[in-house]
Amino acid sequence: MKNSVITRITGTGSCLPEQIVTNEDLSKVVDTSDEWISSRTGIRERHLAKDETTASMAAEAGMRAMQDAGIGAEEVDLLIVGTITGDYVTPSTSCEVQEILGAVNAVAFDINAACAGFMFALHTAHAYLQSGIYKTALVLGAETLSKIMDWKDRSTCVLFGDGAGAAVVRAFEKGKAEDKAAGGILAFEQGSDGRKGKVLSCLGRRNNNPLIENPFIPSYVSMNGQEVYKFAVNTVPASIQKVLELAGLETGDIKYFVLHQANIRILQAVAKRLKADMEKFPVSLDHCGNISAASVPILLDEMNRKGMLEKGDKIVMSGFGGGLTWASAVLEW
Ligand code: COA
Repeated sequence: MKNSVITRITGTGSCLPEQIVTNEDLSKVVDTSDEWISSRTGIRERHLAKDETTASMAAEAGMRAMQDAGIGAEEVDLLIVGTITGDYVTPSTSCEVQEILGAVNAVAFDINAACAGFMFALHTAHAYLQSGIYKTALVLGAETLSKIMDWKDRSTCVLFGDGAGAAVVRAFEKGKAEDKAAGGILAFEQGSDGRKGKVLSCLGRRNNNPLIENPFIPSYVSMNGQEVYKFAVNTVPASIQKVLELAGLETGDIKYFVLHQANIRILQAVAKRLKADMEKFPVSLDHCGNISAASVPILLDEMNRKGMLEKGDKIVMSGFGGGLTWASAVLEW
């Protein structure tokens, strides 16, 4: 079965919470300013959940992706959500989404790879589809990061937002007359470095049994911004170079680099190292902030809905973040 299958994205969707919070709004909560945030990060506003949950946003994004792909929920046989902010420890966000959508024939599970979560989920779906085990996957990235922020810590809380993005990924047999049986996902590369996990972390629930003396203290995201910046500007260009090599392509062959939306300066540094024009790096962080696993699929959906993607376009997608984790793919639209 291997190598006789093309896997391609046939539909995209996204969902952002209704509430928009500007930098100006945040300056009333913490000691910051629009000037500081926008000049250092490019972020101007973000959507923060009120009633929305990680699963409700993921389900909405998933429904829009299925509509775009023209498939029904019962056709999905694999449902994977990249998230670090599920509503429950168990059930998984993917099982919640399965229930909401009525994707009764799907096997559903979550992947924790922080800001690379959607890309790890996409690679997992790609491998399952390539092997012939499943045919139709719904791949999502969904986060309610606002619930793990310390809203007194101006160095982190201004950077993040909430939302969800989704893609339908389907298997097609190579060589068939169907026009979808060509192109698709051409190459993937991913990696992890657990030794540097503490530069961007959020402690989980602690042991709270009655024999333990220290009371449970909730923990929030903590980050060494400069270390994360260094990691991103070194690892991401290398990962992209590697995946381009695997696909037998060069930077100049790529129409768009759809990168995780952490910081405009990271995007600019990656563009410079790849010797690529910044116009090839679409941006959603200005109105979304960093939505971890949801950033890449939300941006992809925005591009798709604006008609920026044409059949045959070659694009690179890349996610990177906590873990540390990173993953890049080349695909032909
Ligand atoms: N508003 C105003 N001042 C702030 C602030 C805010 N929101 N956050 C931090 N500051 C202050 C600091 O307290 C510090 O003040 P001091 O010099 O008086 O001590 C000053 O700004 C500089 O802080 P520093 O952390 O050195 O800033 P920086 O230039 O490194 O920029 C980031 C901080 C976070 C923008 C930058 O490190 C970065 O982009 N890192 C990557 C983060 C990222 O993308 N993470 C997610 C990856 S998935």
